[in-house]
Amino acid sequence: MNEKRQQVTASAPGKLMLLGEHAVVYGRPCLVTAVGRWQATVAPAADDLLHVTAPDVGLLDCALPLTAPVGEMPTGAHFIAAAVQEFRRKYGGSDGLAVTTSSNFSSRYGLGSSAAVTVAVLQALAAWHSVPLTRAELFGLGRRAVLAVQGVGSGFDVAAAVYGGTLYFAAGGPTIEPLVVGDLPLVVGYSGVKADTTTLVRGVAARRAAAPQEIDRLFDESAVLVEAGRRALQVGDFATLGSLFNQAQELLVRLGVSTPRLEALIAAAREAGAWGAKLSGAGGGDCLIALTPAERRQAVEAAIVAAGGEVVAVRPGELGVMVEGAVG
Ligand code: PMV
Repeated sequence: MNEKRQQVTASAPGKLMLLGEHAVVYGRPCLVTAVGRWQATVAPAADDLLHVTAPDVGLLDCALPLTAPVGEMPTGAHFIAAAVQEFRRKYGGSDGLAVTTSSNFSSRYGLGSSAAVTVAVLQALAAWHSVPLTRAELFGLGRRAVLAVQGVGSGFDVAAAVYGGTLYFAAGGPTIEPLVVGDLPLVVGYSGVKADTTTLVRGVAARRAAAPQEIDRLFDESAVLVEAGRRALQVGDFATLGSLFNQAQELLVRLGVSTPRLEALIAAAREAGAWGAKLSGAGGGDCLIALTPAERRQAVEAAIVAAGGEVVAVRPGELGVMVEGAVG
């Protein structure tokens, strides 16, 4: 391994699932766009410990043994420690280090902070050790680190963090296809309820075990919506994409992952003039997305707030992971 620099900062985006959640865990495709930015800085430590400072999740210089099982560490340090361990397993390194993460975006919205932080730490470590990594290699490392913590997941969030933009993604292979799309007129509403992705994914697995044909049919229907959505996205046909959002929401209701609260917010957005609206991600809470004509944006945002939600300002199609700076 090459000479280390004094300190390196990298950043990576989070994500919003546009279409295909849950089905993507079972090999069907999805559409995802990158939003927000998380930074990770790595620097040498005076001892042989891993020092984690992640104010967003309440950790201030939390010192941990580098090789301790991730599950025994404080929750806020899980993805950072998994990224460090994954990198070291492949590229070595034994001395202590300090990792600091930050974002201007709250992790409570469920917009992919875990994968973003994981990928930003991996990229910062690679630059710190002067290890050149391709995006495919970074995706592989990030995927393993996220799986080490979550145990389940398709990796679509890791793909968004690495590649950025708007992607057509399928886990087998994987297929990661950047789409050329213009500005996506999305309104994002937070339901006020924090969802636990792992629990929801395991819930769907249990339903599939009980009724495999029925659930697989839903996944196949989801794949059809994703293919149509990809075409609509590429030609900027938002009326069609909005209608696909509405159909996808029906599938997610049938899958059992929607909630009355999300549905109330989705109905409010539609009534206020959105082309279409759906939950985004695992369901159970977190966010809804509403595809909205510019002239209806204010009305849709006001309707989401009036229905008890919180509007989250995002810029879809954020750039993928990058090194922001190195000192030393
Ligand atoms: O809850 P989120 O936003 O991380 O989205 C999860 C999406 C799933 O398809 C349910 C899981 C996955 O890893 O693809």
